[in-house]
Amino acid sequence: MKIDPRKIAPADAYKLLIGIVVPRPIAWVTTLSSPRVVNLAPFSCFMFLSSDPPLLGFTVGPKRGERKDTARNIHRTGEYVVHIADDSMLGALHASADEFPADVGEAHALGLETLASEAVSVPRLAHAPIAAECKLVQVLRFGRSGSEFMVGEVQLFHVRDGLCIDGKIDSERLRPVGRLAGPTYAKLGDVVRMNPNRAMGPYEVI
Ligand SMILES: Cc1cc2nc3c(=O)[nH]c(=O)nc-3n(C[C@H](O)[C@H](O)[C@H](O)COP(=O)(O)O)c2cc1C
Repeated sequence: MKIDPRKIAPADAYKLLIGIVVPRPIAWVTTLSSPRVVNLAPFSCFMFLSSDPPLLGFTVGPKRGERKDTARNIHRTGEYVVHIADDSMLGALHASADEFPADVGEAHALGLETLASEAVSVPRLAHAPIAAECKLVQVLRFGRSGSEFMVGEVQLFHVRDGLCIDGKIDSERLRPVGRLAGPTYAKLGDVVRMNPNRAMGPYEVI
């Protein structure tokens, strides 16, 4: 089967892409809608861009032609916190994408406890295994969809005790989730270690 992207509608190209680029890591992002309202939403168009300095990027698309609360808040304050959820938080993560009025904080509405951050004024989720306090450094626009790619420099990482061993995050203890197409997700499956001396050789399930 061949698909010419110039002959399909942008909505169909979107459907293809979210099924092709899988599984996607998920940035679970807090922003401030007002001094007391903590907005929370997931974004799976997400990646790290640099380690010096540490830069994280995620894309916020428009909703009915307008900026989503997350994008609006980041443009206004220049600050946000990117969290990584573990699989026990999947229900709350998925629910946080629902439409809540701009003056209702998803973190509070979903019963998620927050803590004050240290480098930014936006609170972070108390029970997320990873939180990265970020300041906006760049907004990039690609294509015609109106999406904005938010690039932020991490000011401070919070890593749950016991997750980071010899400077490396242990994926099996983190238990991350990935987004697939539609409302489907992947949990961590088998973790395999490749034999470094035989690239094409057998691997070990660990
Ligand atoms: C797992 C998951 C990943 C998502 N990824 C994105 C994304 O990368 N970009 C985007 O604009 N919306 C994405 N969404 C939809 C937003 O989370 C949703 O529009 C949300 O209501 C935005 O919230 P806000 O208006 O508070 O910013 C995703 C939803 C889910 C459930």
